[in-house]
Amino acid sequence: MEFIESLNWRYATKKFDPSKKIKQEDLETIKEAVRLSASSYGLQLYKVLVIENPEIREKLKPASWGQSQITDASQLIVFCNYTDVTDEHIDDYLQLKAETQDLELEGLKDYGSMMKGSMAGYTDSQKNQWTAKQTYIALGNLLAVCSILRIDACPMEGFDPVKYNEILGLTENGLNASVIATIGYRSEEDKTQFLKKVRKPAEALFEAI
Ligand SMILES: Cc1cc2nc3c(=O)[nH]c(=O)nc-3n(C[C@H](O)[C@H](O)[C@H](O)COP(=O)(O)O)c2cc1C
Repeated sequence: MEFIESLNWRYATKKFDPSKKIKQEDLETIKEAVRLSASSYGLQLYKVLVIENPEIREKLKPASWGQSQITDASQLIVFCNYTDVTDEHIDDYLQLKAETQDLELEGLKDYGSMMKGSMAGYTDSQKNQWTAKQTYIALGNLLAVCSILRIDACPMEGFDPVKYNEILGLTENGLNASVIATIGYRSEEDKTQFLKKVRKPAEALFEAI
């Protein structure tokens, strides 16, 4: 199957070729795959920064364990989750749903109350964790679509969110950098590309019940 071939082709790229840039058309496809990601209740409580600016990336590099991908990749993608889940977030979603599916907003009131009620039972920390988890689903789609397009990517948690939040002004907008990815094209010198994939055998990973 072609998808499995693509997943075998991809690897977490350690060294990008800084001279190679992603075509705008491909970037739009990657963004669309991220936009179409599933999320709990469909709320999509995150923003995705697509950073090309070299000065900003230079500033972020020391806050990313000095990893070269930050400055050498074609783009740096920062997934930012909303740290709080407010009634306004839920109302905005219901408004969008009503408009998109041609529904009466009034008819979605109970659904809204149910979501608001379930959020009321979450602590601040739980809300932050819950929205951050959603960004990993979008990250998964980004990795998958990049592999299909034969665009290299590296998912990354090796960064300091506090510093990212400060440098990118995220906190004042209710956001937090949860996970990042770099996308572009591998350097011929990246030896990691020649390593065999390390994965548990299916028997160890799956259990039929
Ligand atoms: C959430 C997450 C965070 C990661 N953080 C980093 C990172 O900061 N730097 C890095 O070089 N690789 C990072 N990786 C890459 C993993 O080490 C890599 O995906 C794993 O070893 C499997 O190898 P493969 O992706 O090449 O098949 C991360 C992967 C994931 C999924």
